[in-house]
Amino acid sequence: MCAKRESQQSRRRFLVQALSWVSGITALVLSYPLFRFVGFTIKPKPRYITVRAPLPASGFHAERDFILFITNSSPQAISRICTHLGCRVNFLEDKQIIECPCHQSRFKKDGTLISGPAKKDLPRFTVEPRTNESGQITSYVVTL
Ligand code: FES
Repeated sequence: MCAKRESQQSRRRFLVQALSWVSGITALVLSYPLFRFVGFTIKPKPRYITVRAPLPASGFHAERDFILFITNSSPQAISRICTHLGCRVNFLEDKQIIECPCHQSRFKKDGTLISGPAKKDLPRFTVEPRTNESGQITSYVVTL
């Protein structure tokens, strides 16, 4: 009789523990959409893109995600994603401006907004020049 009661209590304890595990996992799974709704995001790992130096005589290099300009002061990498609706912008060498082909937002070479409909400047990325032993720049590493 006593062994039967212990067996029932053990089974009951197991069922309570299993139920608490299942409810905990269910709460985690159901809270994921809530975190997404609130805006909780995990930052993506940074990407490093190497551009070999020297750049063409035009002084710029266009990649899929950025345009790298070499100015007298320092190299600058400007995002190619338009701040209006996300089209990929192009650098117009003859006009020395960056223009969006979708709705013709225009930006300066440093990403500053000239005319809309975009309301924000283009984002800039960090550029780190790499040099060889003699101090000559061999490449630029852009961190996205
Ligand atoms: S998406 Fe670039 S101006 Fe609209």
